[in-house]
Amino acid sequence: MAVGPNGALTARDVMSDAPVIPVIVVDKAADAVPLARALVAGGIRMLEVTLRTPAALGAIEAIATQVPQAVAGAGTVRSAADAQAAARAGARFVVSPGYTSAVGRACRELGLPLLPGVATGSEIMAAQEDGYTELKFFPAMQAGGLSMLKAWSGPFFDVKFCPTGGITAGNAGEFLALPNVVCVGGSWLTPADVVAAGDWERITQLAREAAGLRR
Ligand code: 3PG
Repeated sequence: MAVGPNGALTARDVMSDAPVIPVIVVDKAADAVPLARALVAGGIRMLEVTLRTPAALGAIEAIATQVPQAVAGAGTVRSAADAQAAARAGARFVVSPGYTSAVGRACRELGLPLLPGVATGSEIMAAQEDGYTELKFFPAMQAGGLSMLKAWSGPFFDVKFCPTGGITAGNAGEFLALPNVVCVGGSWLTPADVVAAGDWERITQLAREAAGLRR
């Protein structure tokens, strides 16, 4: 893998590093470091910590400073202010559930790669107009799944996707087999009950299985 822990990243680097980007919800900041270490031990380094809990920014900061083998990113970024807060915490990439030019502009100003979320052709075109060709398809299963991605491969032949939302260990392989899919995202690597129990070995096992998926 070409990306060093401190090198400048592109969106394609973020998507290419492993077949799965874990979508992480951190309830307790103290879980962040052992959770990140467990994922890294299984071969998953690009970690999307969602800005959905009060602990999220602290979790990004803890991973960024204490787990150099991981690359902490921020998910659920919905505004320029979210992107700025994520950057201050040490996030090295940004994922958004939808796309606005304001979020795109903020990420460019911050020098952070962004995976903008899209679910329609118009949203893909808006993101492309601003220079984005690596996009998150969200919510993937709910918005059309495999057949939507196949349909998009015609008009949007120059776009690569990270489908997220409803992806599991069971269906990830079908998505990864599509030529316009580089990786998938999902929360199945970090089940809430497993994190709450501190079962880091189980997280490593789930990460190892995800890292071994063919694409
Ligand atoms: C996301 O924000 O990307 C989704 O909540 C992840 O979806 P999942 O929980 O269905 O994997």
